[in-house]
Amino acid sequence: MTSSNRKKVIMDMDPGVDDALAIIMAIHSPELEVLAITTVAGNVGIDHCVKNTLRVLALLDLENPPIVARGAEKALKAKPHDAASVHGEDGLGALGDAYYPELNWDLVTDEPAADLMARLVAEHPGEVTVMADGPITNVAEAIRRHPKEMAKAKAIQAMTGAIHVPGNIPPVGAAEFDAYCDPDALAEVLDFTVPVFMVPLDVTHAVPLQRDIAQYEFGRRTDRISKFVLDSSVHYMDFYRDDQGHDGCYLHDPLNVAIAAFPTIARTEAMRIHVDTSDSLTRGLTLPYHHPRLKKAEPNCHVALKVDTERTMRLFWERVRGD
Ligand code: RIB
Ligand code: CA
Repeated sequence: MTSSNRKKVIMDMDPGVDDALAIIMAIHSPELEVLAITTVAGNVGIDHCVKNTLRVLALLDLENPPIVARGAEKALKAKPHDAASVHGEDGLGALGDAYYPELNWDLVTDEPAADLMARLVAEHPGEVTVMADGPITNVAEAIRRHPKEMAKAKAIQAMTGAIHVPGNIPPVGAAEFDAYCDPDALAEVLDFTVPVFMVPLDVTHAVPLQRDIAQYEFGRRTDRISKFVLDSSVHYMDFYRDDQGHDGCYLHDPLNVAIAAFPTIARTEAMRIHVDTSDSLTRGLTLPYHHPRLKKAEPNCHVALKVDTERTMRLFWERVRGD
């Protein structure tokens, strides 16, 4: 594929184990051109997120790695929340600095994430898809600061929300993590003029990664990416095993990449989604308009509700291994 017909994407994320898998998958996907990786506090604090992005890029050892930007260290308004207990205290299973090759800190630009995002979108009008894989604070901030530039995005495709399934935030499971972390940002993004595609837990839970299968697929290989996938995910998979009885994890952010590369992998429905921005048990709930009279209310996004599990998994193995 030539550079001109690759889909231009900006990955906005909070690495995180599944974010790391998403970076590997996107970089190994010839359908995608990763213009930049912008980071946001979410799974872990912003310093860890920047460092983890560099760690994954160092393992990938690329000739032309994407630029990396530091983004929001807190949500627009909501109280801080993280998932270090899920992803490990550094966000990548706490393997330690010595595990990684030397990091290239020169990749981190001084330009704040929101400004870089808007600038790149404006430089390629109608061509850039902003893929959000964490709390959507940077995207909302970019829209607030540079609405004209951000209006030139092709789409915003966000792994976020839980529509017809429970969320993953205890104790009641109303919200999905990213929506919970910054519900105000999500509400603002949904109000914006650019088409928004939502990839919620409804579909990411349809792409589970089983530990034994991962061990089989990656364990017989000697390359460092395969080793990293297994090593970094031990803590993450232990969490799902102990918390939910699922000995593995879910491919939340990798599914977002798969859909960006091959949109027909998912079936979407145009819907109007309300985000609960209250500071209550239902903070971050992404509620579809259910009432028969309102069901036809002006949609504010396209929600992926069905996914081709087999095709996604095939793509995951192939792309993460770099076959
Ligand atoms: O709820 C899953 C999402 O929250 C994923 O993007 C994960 O990395 C965290 O950001
Ligand atoms: Ca994420």
